[in-house]
Amino acid sequence: MNNKIHVDNDIRIAETLPAKFYKNQEIFEIVKEKIFLRCWHWIGDESMISEKNLTLPINLYPEFLDEPIVIIRDEKNDISFLSNVCTHRGNILVKEKCISKKITCSYHGRRFNNKGVFEFMPEFNETKNFPRECENLYKFPSYSWKKLLFLGLNPGFKIENVLNKIENRIGFLPLNYIKPDLKLSKDYYIDANWALYCDNYLEGFHVPFVHKDLNEVLDYKNYQTEIDDFFNLQIGYGKNKSECFEIPKSHKDFGKNIAAYYYWIFPNLMLNFYPWGISINLVCPLSKSKSKILFRSYVFNESKLNLGASGDLDKVEIEDEEIVQNVQKGIKSSFYSTGRFSPSMEKGVHHFHLLISKFLNNK
Ligand code: FES
Ligand SMILES: [Fe+2]
Repeated sequence: MNNKIHVDNDIRIAETLPAKFYKNQEIFEIVKEKIFLRCWHWIGDESMISEKNLTLPINLYPEFLDEPIVIIRDEKNDISFLSNVCTHRGNILVKEKCISKKITCSYHGRRFNNKGVFEFMPEFNETKNFPRECENLYKFPSYSWKKLLFLGLNPGFKIENVLNKIENRIGFLPLNYIKPDLKLSKDYYIDANWALYCDNYLEGFHVPFVHKDLNEVLDYKNYQTEIDDFFNLQIGYGKNKSECFEIPKSHKDFGKNIAAYYYWIFPNLMLNFYPWGISINLVCPLSKSKSKILFRSYVFNESKLNLGASGDLDKVEIEDEEIVQNVQKGIKSSFYSTGRFSPSMEKGVHHFHLLISKFLNNK
């Protein structure tokens, strides 16, 4: 099968991703290597690694990448993301959360310090040219923004550029005071390809059709999409001023009734800013037709919870899941291959498809 995917730069003549992108196993595997391994991933927040010398193993995208990573906060409070795989014969090093200044492999005793630097290995005195640089644990690039942690797997762009631009726009919010809210945090499982979920997120076109209640509070005619390099922004305008952001005078959005800033970072992260805080959605592929969506909320103003555009996130989510799962059934048809874009309403989806085609076609 020809796995080439072309999406035209010009939305007026472009076609959407072909159905094979969502259903072909070979393409799904290529997506791991060419997209997920070349991007940044949101991991959680600093509260998960709050103590000095805490050593926390995580599995990045279980059932998909299954990348073993260990997060360590050292005595100077620096946080490192290291490969959790022993450089001798590949044993998993840290199996559970613990307090430790060293990492010692339980297989043959190789030891590393808490920066991942090789320190000691029994019975290797006669081994020549040892230790080499590659005996150290691989250190992943990482970035902390407002206590949210991001990790890069050989990323093809800089996450700080993306987050700085986001901060320029929504920096008037008290983001230094966000607190994780477990009650509002949830996992959803859907029978659909991860990218179909993103496609749906990236347009407000469907709002009047799919989300009748949300449509009552959003001013659909003003819905707006702004495209940037590796992220885009959808702005939801509210009908009721009291449910919108209080935007400072000096800000370019001053005077507008904005109810939500919906940011999406390529390929699978959504940062939704509301007057009460942030709802983060991470779309985790499980197979080519199953995904898990993490919903994590961070609150800075409890009094504004459950108002306006974020009134019933659960209901909106169920409505989105239903439509996305229907599309999953539709694209299996032998008679559907691709569609076209609305230049006024589907800029975000086009941007996503363009990035996918660029990353996939990158040698
Ligand atoms: S695999 Fe770790 S010491 Fe052998
Ligand atoms: Fe939706």
